[in-house]
Amino acid sequence: MKSVIFGLQWGDEGKGKVTTYFSKDYDYVVRYSGGSNAGHTVEYTDFKLIHHLLPSFYVKKNVGAIISNGVVLDLEQLVEEIEEFKSKTGTYPKLYISELAHVVLPHHKKLDEKLEQIKGKNAVGTTKRGIGPAYADKVHRIGIRLSDFKNKDKFYEKIKNISKLYKNLYNIEVESIENVLTSYEKLKSHIVPHGEIINLINKNKILFESTQGVLLDIDVGTYPYVTGANCNTTGIQNGVGFPVKTENYIGVFKAYLTRVGNGPFPTEAFGKEGEEIRKRGHEFGATTGRPRRCGWLDLPLLKYAITVSGATELVMTKGDILNGMEKIKVCVAYKIDGNIVDRISSVDDLEKAEPIYETLDGWENHTSKEFNEYLSFIESYVKRKITHISVGPKVEEIIKL
Ligand code: GDP
Ligand code: IMO
Ligand code: MG
Repeated sequence: MKSVIFGLQWGDEGKGKVTTYFSKDYDYVVRYSGGSNAGHTVEYTDFKLIHHLLPSFYVKKNVGAIISNGVVLDLEQLVEEIEEFKSKTGTYPKLYISELAHVVLPHHKKLDEKLEQIKGKNAVGTTKRGIGPAYADKVHRIGIRLSDFKNKDKFYEKIKNISKLYKNLYNIEVESIENVLTSYEKLKSHIVPHGEIINLINKNKILFESTQGVLLDIDVGTYPYVTGANCNTTGIQNGVGFPVKTENYIGVFKAYLTRVGNGPFPTEAFGKEGEEIRKRGHEFGATTGRPRRCGWLDLPLLKYAITVSGATELVMTKGDILNGMEKIKVCVAYKIDGNIVDRISSVDDLEKAEPIYETLDGWENHTSKEFNEYLSFIESYVKRKITHISVGPKVEEIIKL
């Protein structure tokens, strides 16, 4: 069995928590794209983990973890995360990392920051984790992969060449990579050839854990306000480097909507309205601590995300955050250039979209009739079943419908 859990919005839908819950039925959780820009918060009864690079697998259920070639790896971050994992759980992760994965180096973070500065008001609002520049170096064919660490002479030769290139191109100093090397030594026992990753994926029950959300995908997201990779489900095959078949496409969405960073957001709520959702939902970035922009659920966008991701079933999270609100707004169409549209085939016109809302009755909790009406309203609009609801931050707070 192969399944994928992914975000249907602009990230932070609760993928980490949902992945952890579902992972009990799988052998391995695989991260196939993105890097330490992700922040997946997983709350167990007595401790909490924030996963940036380490997949969200269920601790104590003997679930393993795989980081495949499509991920860009910040080695120091991963070492730190493993240390934290060990100290909080008392166990060591069963982790395999593909030697084809590219490495985020210190100059990638510098360049990320510099590019954002130069873009000024057009800045993407990146996490400054060096994601875009690391993928760019991969495409420029000057990236460093884990396999390059095996031969130190060749490794230093490559670093020297990158250094020369960067000085000419960007006037950026490629500084000492000693810390990266130390982290590599600590991770060495986890790094395996590509064939071994293929074997593990083929022979086991696999849950792919996506990062970010469909609307941040570099191709079908709100470009240029997107991340540097195909975080959509379409990224799986390239991200694991072979044509794996996935049966279940489990799309996660929040009962409302958030976005970190810049870019269009038609249903964004400003002033008191936005502030209330932010306060109720504790909507602050798990990676950067930035306040998340908050607003109402956008059904045309959700439907678009379902189409481009192939979601076969849905999980709704954080409905509990809206408990006790008198009225709930939900966007059912847009006005774009004077025309009413309730279906979009591209997100290019989103800047111009004015939301048209329906206002529904609020609910007390997930057992209320109004809550069920909200679920039915969404299902009949997007034509997909919501198979689970998440009703709190803890891993076990999920209900199968
Ligand atoms: P991810 O990046 O998609 O994994 O999501 P984040 O971890 O960045 O953000 C989701 C936040 O909401 C985390 O703090 C979770 O602990 C929390 N969370 C997840 N599901 C629920 C839920 O159903 N209710 C509540 N109240 N919190 C939730
Ligand atoms: P998880 O996996 C929310 C956003 C950044 C920025 C854009 C590009 O926790 O859902 P990048 O650093 O990737 O070049 O930034 O993408 N972004 C996220 N927003 N959740 C994430 O991950 C994100 N990862 C990147 O805020 O707008
Ligand atoms: Mg997150």
